[in-house]
Amino acid sequence: MTRAPGLRRDPDSYAVTAEFYDILQADEDAARVRRLYGREVARARHGVLDVGAGTGRVTMLALAGSRADVHAVEPARAMRTSLLTRLAALPAVQRERVTVHPLPLDEAPLRAVADVAVCHNMVGCLPPAVREELWPAIAAALTPGGSLFVELPPARLPVGAVVRPLGDTRVGEHTYGGRITMSAAGHRIRTRVDYWVRQAEHVLREHTETFWMWPATRSRLAAELAPHGFVPLPGPGDPRLLAVTLPRHR
Ligand SMILES: C[S@@+](CC[C@H](N)C(=O)[O-])C[C@H]1O[C@@H](n2cnc3c(N)ncnc32)[C@H](O)[C@@H]1O
Repeated sequence: MTRAPGLRRDPDSYAVTAEFYDILQADEDAARVRRLYGREVARARHGVLDVGAGTGRVTMLALAGSRADVHAVEPARAMRTSLLTRLAALPAVQRERVTVHPLPLDEAPLRAVADVAVCHNMVGCLPPAVREELWPAIAAALTPGGSLFVELPPARLPVGAVVRPLGDTRVGEHTYGGRITMSAAGHRIRTRVDYWVRQAEHVLREHTETFWMWPATRSRLAAELAPHGFVPLPGPGDPRLLAVTLPRHR
């Protein structure tokens, strides 16, 4: 998903979405996160950097699937609230391995803290100029030989309006639902997310939050990363990911 231009320093983005984020998407996305990063995270020895941690899907995978320290970077207050509530339920021994950084990564002073970095469902939310600031910050946060796994954003603008329903979820007497509508607006993707809560056929409340996304191809992202020392990881890899590494000797 996404964020609007100018929200970079706005800690209140995701204020509407955070309430619905996990109830509508957590199960499906947790399985996806396991498939995409489970093996890589298990190999981390030094640390895992979760860039744009949101409510903590990759962070929880890293805590459960590795013994490395975890750095969860999440500037949006509402998403961070869910993340910390989740961490509060962990045993202290697991919780002491994770540090939450409440800033955009390029403002967080993280130096050589991780050998695995993940940008899950995140890079598409950034305008190109902000992406350019993210790459050197990730390079600085990684140790030599560290790897970065980026979930690829849409490669191009959608044709017409693309609608994706967010499946209904029951909570007691209420049913939570939602819908994502993506459409082209100039060179950006306007992403409107509608949420509702129903009781039987009666709609109790409705909310909307609009985000912006910037399409980028795999080759464009690889070209942006190269000047910061990143080279492609060998092997076919997952088509949904861009996997790059910082060679030990540069
Ligand atoms: C669509 S959410 C995805 C959250 C999580 N990765 C997930 O998939 O559930 C993107 C997240 O990136 C965060 N974010 C945006 N810009 C960031 C930056 N420069 N550094 C770190 N996080 C950022 C947002 O606050 C938001 O929570």
